[in-house]
Amino acid sequence: RYSPTRDDRFSFGLWTVGWQGVDVFGGAVRPVLDPAEAIHRLSDLGAYGITFHDNDVFPFDASPAEKEQHLAPFRKALEETGLVVPMVTTNLFSHPVFRDGGFTNNDRDVRRFAIRKAAEQIDLAAELGAKIFVAWGGREGAESGAAKDVKAALSRYKEAFDVLGAYSEEQGYGLRFAIEPKPNEPRGDILLPTVGHALAFINELERPDLVGLNPEVGHEEMASLNYAHGLAQALWHGKLFHIDLNGQTGPRYDQDLRFGAGNARGAFWTVDIVENGGYEGPRHFDYKPPRTEDMDGVWESARACMRNYLILRDKVRAFRADPEVQEALTAARVDQLAVPSLAAGETVADLRAESFDPDAAAERGMGFERLDQLALEHLYGVR
Ligand code: GCO
Ligand code: MN
Ligand code: MN
Ligand code: MN
Repeated sequence: RYSPTRDDRFSFGLWTVGWQGVDVFGGAVRPVLDPAEAIHRLSDLGAYGITFHDNDVFPFDASPAEKEQHLAPFRKALEETGLVVPMVTTNLFSHPVFRDGGFTNNDRDVRRFAIRKAAEQIDLAAELGAKIFVAWGGREGAESGAAKDVKAALSRYKEAFDVLGAYSEEQGYGLRFAIEPKPNEPRGDILLPTVGHALAFINELERPDLVGLNPEVGHEEMASLNYAHGLAQALWHGKLFHIDLNGQTGPRYDQDLRFGAGNARGAFWTVDIVENGGYEGPRHFDYKPPRTEDMDGVWESARACMRNYLILRDKVRAFRADPEVQEALTAARVDQLAVPSLAAGETVADLRAESFDPDAAAERGMGFERLDQLALEHLYGVR
């Protein structure tokens, strides 16, 4: 029970289990993880996919030949395990040249290099059969006021997506791009800080159809936002291209806890919307095994991400199937919200002609507490 199969479509970033624990206060606590070993271990644990930044697999300064040397064992491990690469992304934040970002760096030569670096990774994405290209703009932002002309930066950000989208289309790759919002960290203020900002930005692009979102649990919760609501809105716009699942405890630094840790109630509603809202992509984990752990702890936490998802999926199914819940949903008139407020052909004149007693209507309670208590009791395991 709660053991994943490939049909569950769980994927992990190579940089998650591979994180050596380097933070601003201390160096590595774990050895370098060989990408091929990561693939084998994740496969054994029941994952179906692996994702990566270019420089998770080959160094920043690798020559084409060196790049191939690093990719060969990676490809071999994929073949041996049958793991797929549903998504890839580019590292435009680690090398010092990206100190002021990539696509929105004040320096034009750096921006041109960043676009070229992303294009090369797009080629690799297509070659490996990835369908989604994630763009997390970690260093696209500022710490201070005058340093960044935000409107100009957004124009350059748009330019980068327009150029890369056109490139991918010209090559016939059929890739779709997924913007990953984050409010801050490593920059003081990051551009496209939330799901909402990114959705509005996408409308300004040459090919909005090619670009959607990769919302991450922790990033929305850092901004005190409701992740499940963000997913629902992205789905409503047809823009939920990918998801980064992890755990977070309220607005503080980016914790990247294993999925299900942190805000457990939020995780319950996240699984509910992911399972029942029409999302069809991978269930992708982007977390960081805490620095307290050795490699055994790393694999334990990776296993736990999937296990917690499956536990919550069971609970969500039980909640939705519970006759008392169905009755409470009806009592709370949740179904009524799907009915248009005006019937076909009606206008404001019809509303004016209608008699409505606000005082009588104001007496009705909504019944939400009973409904939510049922959800909590399913989550707490007493139903
Ligand atoms: C974060 C981000 C990153 C990105 C990843 C993909 O924790 O700030 O989630 O992990 O998802 O780098 O580009
Ligand atoms: Mn992180
Ligand atoms: Mn994060
Ligand atoms: Mn992420």
